Amino acid sequence: MRTAFGRNRSGFISATKTKNLPPIDRFNYGQKLYFWLIFYGAILLLVSGIGLWFVESIPWSLRWLRYLAAAVHVGAALITIGGFIIHV
Ligand code: HEM
Repeated sequence: MRTAFGRNRSGFISATKTKNLPPIDRFNYGQKLYFWLIFYGAILLLVSGIGLWFVESIPWSLRWLRYLAAAVHVGAALITIGGFIIHV
C-alpha cells in the first residue's frame, strides 16, 4: 500500500516504532482500512445478493455467474463479519 501508513506498517503495528509515522488525523490506519473493507464488502454483498435473489433470471448458459455470485457472497460475508469481529 502506498499510503504513508502503509509504508510504515511495522511502526503502525508496534507501539515502540512510532517515530516515522505521519500525524494521525481524526481516524487511524486501522479505522480507515476497516471503512474500505466494509465499503467494498457491502457493494460485493449487494451485487452478488441480487444475483442470488434473482438467480433464475441468469440463463443456464451463464451459470458461471450463479456460481460466482454464490462464492463472492459467502466470501464477502466471511470477510466483512471477520472484520467486524476483530475491529477495535
Ligand atoms: C442487499 C444485500 C443482500 C442481498 C440482496 C442478499 C441476498 C441473499 C440471497 C438471495 C441469499 C440466498 C438465500 C437462499 O439461498 O435461499 C443470500 C444468502 C446469504 N447471505 Fe445475503 N444478501 C445481502 C446481504 C448480506 C450481508 C450483509 C451478509 C452478511 C454480512 C449476507 C450473508 C449471507 C450468507 C452467509 C448467505 C448464505 C450463503 C449462501 O446461501 O450462499 N448477505 N443472501
